[in-house]
Amino acid sequence: MEKIKVGIVGYGTIGKRVADAVLLQEDMELVGVVGRTYNYKLEIASKRGIPIYALNKIEDIKHNGVNISGTVDELLNKVDIVVDCSPKPNGAKNIEKLYKPAGVKAIIQGGEKAAGAEISFVAQCNYKDSLNKDYVRVVSCNTTAMCRTLHALDVKFGVKKARATLIRRGGDPHAVKRGPINSIIPSFELPSHHGPDVRTVLYDMEVFTTAVIVPTTLMHMHNLDVVLKTETTTDEVVELFRNTSRIRVIKADHKLGSTAEVMEYGRDLGNKRGDMMEICVWEEGVGIVGGELFFPQAVHQESDVVPENIDAIRAMMGIEDAEKSIEMTNKSLGLE
Ligand SMILES: NC(=O)c1ccc[n+]([C@@H]2O[C@H](COP(=O)([O-])OP(=O)(O)OC[C@H]3O[C@@H](n4cnc5c(N)ncnc54)[C@H](OP(=O)(O)O)[C@@H]3O)[C@@H](O)[C@H]2O)c1
Repeated sequence: MEKIKVGIVGYGTIGKRVADAVLLQEDMELVGVVGRTYNYKLEIASKRGIPIYALNKIEDIKHNGVNISGTVDELLNKVDIVVDCSPKPNGAKNIEKLYKPAGVKAIIQGGEKAAGAEISFVAQCNYKDSLNKDYVRVVSCNTTAMCRTLHALDVKFGVKKARATLIRRGGDPHAVKRGPINSIIPSFELPSHHGPDVRTVLYDMEVFTTAVIVPTTLMHMHNLDVVLKTETTTDEVVELFRNTSRIRVIKADHKLGSTAEVMEYGRDLGNKRGDMMEICVWEEGVGIVGGELFFPQAVHQESDVVPENIDAIRAMMGIEDAEKSIEMTNKSLGLE
């Protein structure tokens, strides 16, 4: 079987993780990654033998022994598909400027507007709708998380309406210029953009979100409040989450009662970079009161979208079996 030839454009938080995930797929080949300016990440990639291509001038990244294999246009000549992991709004711009002229399929990331691609994607929810598409957006870390849990609840019990408060991390751990450092910043947008974004994947979901940003870098946390169409018990809900792919049920009682401990758990599991690609639902937090289901979930923003990018590649390349793709991706990444 011929392997799918993949290129990565933008080698930051998401790009380096997607590149590593592509390297683990038996049906994919990482042809190269495109850098914009020199940084140590490109130097490490180069030392690992990953071919590096230049977005602009070769001199911008050719430092400290980074080997340059060519320009972005040369990479585009060699690949079937690009995963664009540049910061918004460059993904959508790159589609027009680079990928369309080269006739190459492209995935853009969740910072981009939904209109920047043909469709928004979460593997468990709408894989089939992305089959053979040319331009797909893998939704944000927060939207991915809500789609995973709400979709599972909707299929099993039916969701009448969902409400969520998102407690968002101020920045990624390396992001020295982000904040706040001593404040809580509410979103004054109602709903916050996350609810409408969920509907780009779960098209008919009745969902409303609010959000605050807090001084933490490790994870986001969501508090969900869901009215279901059928009666159920907390045990049934926990069992459903336990049996749903890419959701990990955790227990505060196991010394996992905070996002800090959850990230330590990811490191102790031996996950690369200490990532936690599954959405973590606290078992003790699942409760049903007056017909409403409540639960808290933790979201590792740097990594939960990585498996989605891998499945989006297969969907766009016309591989029809969603379950098989999800299974292959999960197995390669060691996911529940
Ligand atoms: N970080 C998260 O928590 C997270 C989670 C889910 C989704 N996302 C989404 O993923 C996307 C990437 O985010 P990120 O956090 O990975 O960003 P990042 O860490 O800042 O990395 C972005 C990379 O893209 C490069 N770049 C800058 N402008 C470019 C352009 N015009 N064309 C190609 N590459 C360019 C940057 O190069 P330089 O180093 O030269 O600037 C950098 O290597 C965004 O849409 C974001 O919203 C991020």
